[in-house]
Amino acid sequence: METTFNAWDVSRYGGPDVLTSVSRPAPTPTAGQVLVRIRASAVSRADSMMRAGQPKFARLFLGLSRPRSGLIGTCFSGDVVAVGDAVRTLQVGDAVFGEAGLQFGANATHICVDETASVLTKPETVSYEEAATLFDGAMTSWHFLTRVAKVQAGETVLILGGSGSLGTAAVQFAKALGAKVSASASARNAELIKSLGADVVVDYASQDPLKDGCAYDVVFDTLGVSSFRATKSALTKKGRYVCPVLGLALLRDMLLTAVFGRKQAKFAAAGMSKPEVHRAELSEVLALMASNQFSPVMDRTYPLADLVEAHRYVETGRKRGNVVVV
Ligand SMILES: NC(=O)c1ccc[n+]([C@@H]2O[C@H](COP(=O)([O-])OP(=O)(O)OC[C@H]3O[C@@H](n4cnc5c(N)ncnc54)[C@H](OP(=O)(O)O)[C@@H]3O)[C@@H](O)[C@H]2O)c1
Repeated sequence: METTFNAWDVSRYGGPDVLTSVSRPAPTPTAGQVLVRIRASAVSRADSMMRAGQPKFARLFLGLSRPRSGLIGTCFSGDVVAVGDAVRTLQVGDAVFGEAGLQFGANATHICVDETASVLTKPETVSYEEAATLFDGAMTSWHFLTRVAKVQAGETVLILGGSGSLGTAAVQFAKALGAKVSASASARNAELIKSLGADVVVDYASQDPLKDGCAYDVVFDTLGVSSFRATKSALTKKGRYVCPVLGLALLRDMLLTAVFGRKQAKFAAAGMSKPEVHRAELSEVLALMASNQFSPVMDRTYPLADLVEAHRYVETGRKRGNVVVV
């Protein structure tokens, strides 16, 4: 058993350079915890926003003047290498994937998590790299399409930002749910989005999908590049505008549409759901993977030692699908 573990410290908010590699004594699982030897962990837009402490209201959860956890990284996959005395459902040797929650620290070689936390067994057919991404784009998009927008077969769905982590999952999920799917993407990503099942791909640089006379039952704005007000006239009578990026305008529109009118604006923080909700939603995602209706799009893989480079790349806003460190 290793006596030290490597992780990435974030002791103040800022750009990728605030990240510092650290070596610490290996953690020991408490009675209800498992120790995981991490094989892959995701580097997501949400991670870079947490590192930067943006938007500022997020610091209420993350730490007012500096990141409370001190470590970075949210989603991981790996192997259970030790278990606490009271652990019943997992054992040494199990391959798992999970989310670190507000303790963070997933961009590391090891992590201790509660057996009852957001941890699932990793199927053999899913790689460690793929599994490490599932709590980000896949779970978030599945949550938004099935629980927030409640997409029905035959509905028309527009995915704004089809080539990101959320977007590449959303296109596949909307298709699997039986929707007619349009997605916005740049010309360089058009073929990718078509290969994921989109019926229509709109080049966001030269066309406005909201002004071509189409009516959508659901607009999933994965990047927060539009707004309820801008999409309203392109929504059907009971249309839903759903967006994972919260700002004051979305907050206002959520409150207003909850009381007035039939068209709805909605936000959710998928990561904040209870572990049992995460496990239920991800079991559904794994079932879609098993039936070849969903496969996470993998962009770049960096060594864990190059986490700063990985953050710089993610922050360009140009990644296609998911980035991991191993
Ligand atoms: N609420 C929640 O529970 C929750 C959970 C997870 C993530 N999030 C948030 O969700 C957001 C999306 O994350 P993500 O990881 O999917 O993003 P991402 O992967 O970083 O998105 C990058 C992609 O967006 C495309 N893009 C850039 N500008 C665009 C535009 N104007 N129109 C269409 N496509 C555009 C880029 O393509 P080109 O390079 O070709 O432009 C690139 O492929 C983040 O803000 C994240 O914090 C929220």
